[in-house]
Amino acid sequence: MHQEQQHSFVFGGDYNPEQWPESVWAEDVRLMREAHVNRVTVGVFSWSSLEPEEGRYDFGWLDTVMDLMHANGIGVVLATPTASPPPWFTFAHPEALPVTADGVRLVHGSRDTYNPAAPAYREAARRIAGALADRYGRHPALTMWHVHNEYGTVSYGPETDRAFRLWLADRYGDIAALNETWNSAFWSQKYSTFEHVLAPQATQYLPNPAHLLDFKRFSADTLRDALREQVAIVRAASPGVPVTTNFMLPSWNHYDQWDVAAEIDEVSIDHYPNARDIEGETHVAFGADLARSFNRGRPWVLMEQATSLIYDYAAARLFAKDPGRLARNTLQYLARGATGSLFFQWRSPRVGAEFFHSPMVPHAGEDSRVFREIVALGHTLSALAEIAEPPAAGRRVNDTRVAIVWDSTAWWASETKAMPSDDLAFLPAVRAVHRALWWQGIASDVVRLDQDLSGYDLVLVPSKIAASDAEAAALAAFVDAGGHAAIWYFAGSTDENLSVRPGGFSGAFAPLAGIRVEEHHPLAADEGIELSDGSLADAWAEYLQALGAEVLATFTHPPLAGRPAITRNRLGAGTVHYLATRLDAAALREHLARIAAEAGVTPDHPEAGNGVEIVRRYAGDGSYLFVFNHGTTPRTLDLTGHDLLRDRTLDGPVEVPPAGYLVLR
Ligand code: GAL
Repeated sequence: MHQEQQHSFVFGGDYNPEQWPESVWAEDVRLMREAHVNRVTVGVFSWSSLEPEEGRYDFGWLDTVMDLMHANGIGVVLATPTASPPPWFTFAHPEALPVTADGVRLVHGSRDTYNPAAPAYREAARRIAGALADRYGRHPALTMWHVHNEYGTVSYGPETDRAFRLWLADRYGDIAALNETWNSAFWSQKYSTFEHVLAPQATQYLPNPAHLLDFKRFSADTLRDALREQVAIVRAASPGVPVTTNFMLPSWNHYDQWDVAAEIDEVSIDHYPNARDIEGETHVAFGADLARSFNRGRPWVLMEQATSLIYDYAAARLFAKDPGRLARNTLQYLARGATGSLFFQWRSPRVGAEFFHSPMVPHAGEDSRVFREIVALGHTLSALAEIAEPPAAGRRVNDTRVAIVWDSTAWWASETKAMPSDDLAFLPAVRAVHRALWWQGIASDVVRLDQDLSGYDLVLVPSKIAASDAEAAALAAFVDAGGHAAIWYFAGSTDENLSVRPGGFSGAFAPLAGIRVEEHHPLAADEGIELSDGSLADAWAEYLQALGAEVLATFTHPPLAGRPAITRNRLGAGTVHYLATRLDAAALREHLARIAAEAGVTPDHPEAGNGVEIVRRYAGDGSYLFVFNHGTTPRTLDLTGHDLLRDRTLDGPVEVPPAGYLVLR
């Protein structure tokens, strides 16, 4: 295994030498050394170059690349190429091609052309992973295994139907239990045998939400099982070498992040925030906090980010990053626990679907702004290497007192098509809460309710539509022990299988909140409301009764005028807030500030907030403050410590320009 001389941040990117003649490899190595690159990810989509025909391998080029990297002190993150089966595979196994919900069988010509439930695909994937593990499992350049790329394929069709039925039979035991859970008497969907159940392809009208939810669970388990098989293969060949798979974050929910994290040694993420303003900075923090949380507070790997031009699908174009942003964003990820930064990718292909996506070495070559920024960043990371040292004890990033509940079942539930409003979406609700805390300089983790919550003072529960009895009990126990919680509208309205809880909505948490929700009053897409305390809100309202809870604000619009909108229930030392509407960003910030203050949670640093991001990372016996001014005006901040990037000692006010940052020991 590759040995590091000392602690250092990883720096490099996806490297695809098989797309270039060997003459270019020498230039690659020269430029990598110039930029202090110490890590490359190789082989992510190389299947057709490694196994040009079924069972015939061509490892010659990869042997040379592995040796070349080793000779130059560059560690290799070796990927299994299973996200892109070659054309020969699809001709040999047409049944393993993916099928869309509309029944269209896709063909090769792009990537991810496989059905993860198809046995032929799984077998071929195990075979190529095994061949790589045998050949490179003990290669001295190998630093990490990277299984697959962004697991995220969902497929329907006969292969899926077969696997789905087995999964259902395993989950329910007999068909009567499935009929009961799905309430399949509704619209005459009662099944007499598992053999009649299909994966939920396109239907005439709304499908059964419980059926959809189980299919999402099945698809997630299928991807996790495909991962698990490969992890076992590469682990067996390389004891001690960490294994990862890269999460596409935070926009994908094809699997349960906690489940997948449990299969691997280090969580890695691909992160592409595409907002060009401060919204992009809040997105960086969000992605990093998710990754750290999924990796249970341990360091995590930034497997991919873009150097500059990046797809904005909504805008149907690529946007360039402003000069300096690449380094600033990278330091934000480091502050929040990244082991360094890798980029997609080292060099752009001459031609190929992503040939205009920005790499480390652009088409313009080394004489370019982007490559100069890469070189500068490589030097900066070398200068900050001491921060890569693991902390002598305790956590690595801030003492996070606030947790936001992250739950795939809730996310999947919000996508089951029969919900009372599209504005119940999970991800925007979680992100809004994270963003509101970020603006106040308060760090947060994401958690699931069945993990140990005792280290937190405040647990926030936005848009958790489905909640099990055990989850409700876990939150109650947290509050009982003096914890503070805030619960948003509709959370806990159904159980974990989407059956509505009787007696009023938000039933899993209503007793804890001291409320009863009798009726929903969703708002129109363009409808805004004002609460009695002046808070602005939209999207959602409820007919709420306070049963023991104090009313903090009421609705003012008919027919809910005068009825509770925001409540607080005091339970011993703990409190439970309930928010029956979607507050706008300003009101959400204000209410969260109040809730945090009541919970005794203060900003992580007195100067943090309002666009100033300050994060503490621990290393060795000490700690380091990463300070960023994301605002548009200079900020004078009271800071103490040794400024590592400028080699000066600060003890008092210092002006930080817009887009400026400091790293203080
Ligand atoms: C990632 C993916 C890469 C590349 C990149 C482009 O999600 O893993 O292969 O497609 O996006 O932004």
